[in-house]
Parts: sequence; structure tokens; C-alpha cells
Amino acid sequence: MNYEELLNTAEGLLQGQPSKISLLANASAFLNEVLDHMNWIGFYLYNGKSLTVGPFQGKVACAEIQMGSGVCGEAASLNKTMYVSNVLEHTNHIACDPNSRSEVVVPLMLNNALYGVLDIDSPMIARFDEELILFLEKFAKLVEKQLTITTL
Ligand code: SME
Repeated sequence: MNYEELLNTAEGLLQGQPSKISLLANASAFLNEVLDHMNWIGFYLYNGKSLTVGPFQGKVACAEIQMGSGVCGEAASLNKTMYVSNVLEHTNHIACDPNSRSEVVVPLMLNNALYGVLDIDSPMIARFDEELILFLEKFAKLVEKQLTITTL
């Protein structure tokens, strides 16, 4: 997969979004279109206290996640990308979709403060390699950039 090309396409798509909801909705739809073997792709947004579910692609998900709780809460409170190759072996995991086996969570910042996280789940064990994780981090940077520009 040509990640550089995907990032270029994503940049064009994300630049054209009129609001933060449009941006996050189409960002999750884009990733869902281009990545295979994924069962949940979306955002949790930080409200100053906890994470609440935002735009996503996948099955109905947990609506609220406390900071530090699950892979999302862990990534958000540590402010770093988390990769879990087998969620069944990761004690601090919330099984919203019981089919999930591996997961990556990338924190999103806006104006130097936590804005939320990008969460991607796969039904395959160890679905994510280093290159894919780097792509997701770069993709998250593009989303962050557009969040600063989009006023709505
Ligand atoms: N598995 C996540 C919860 C969110 S769902 O995957 C959509 C976690 O452990 O934080």
C-alpha cells in the first residue's frame, strides 16, 4: 500500500471539509475505505473530563470512556500512540466490539490541549505494522491541522 499517496489524497479531502463534524466523519470514512481488515474506525472526543464517542465507522460503540480506562483512555492520558497486538492479552481493554483483536489509538491535540483520539480496531491479531502505525500518526497530524483551521 502506498501510504504517501494516501496521505496526499487525504490532505485534499480533509482540506475541503466545512466543519469539525464533517472533517471527522469523512476522515473515518476515508480510512475505512482504504484500509482492509478493520472493524471499527473513529474518534473519541475529550470533554475536559472523559472521552465521548464521535464520528465513526463500525458497530455501535461505548458512548463514554473514562481517562486512563481502556486503550483509548490510556493513550489519551499518556498522550502517546498505543498499539495493542492482541487485545485479549491487554488487561486495560474495553471490548466494545467483541470481534476486535488488535487496536491502535492515536491522541489528537488542538491548541496544545487534548482534543480526542483516533481509534482503529481490527478483527485480526497483529494487524498493524510499524509502517501502518506511522501512516495513522501522519493522518492524525493532517486531521489536527484541519481542526485548527475549521472554525465551525
Ligand atoms: N477498545 C477501546 C474501546 C473503544 S472501541 O474499540 C470502539 C478501548 O479499549 O479503549
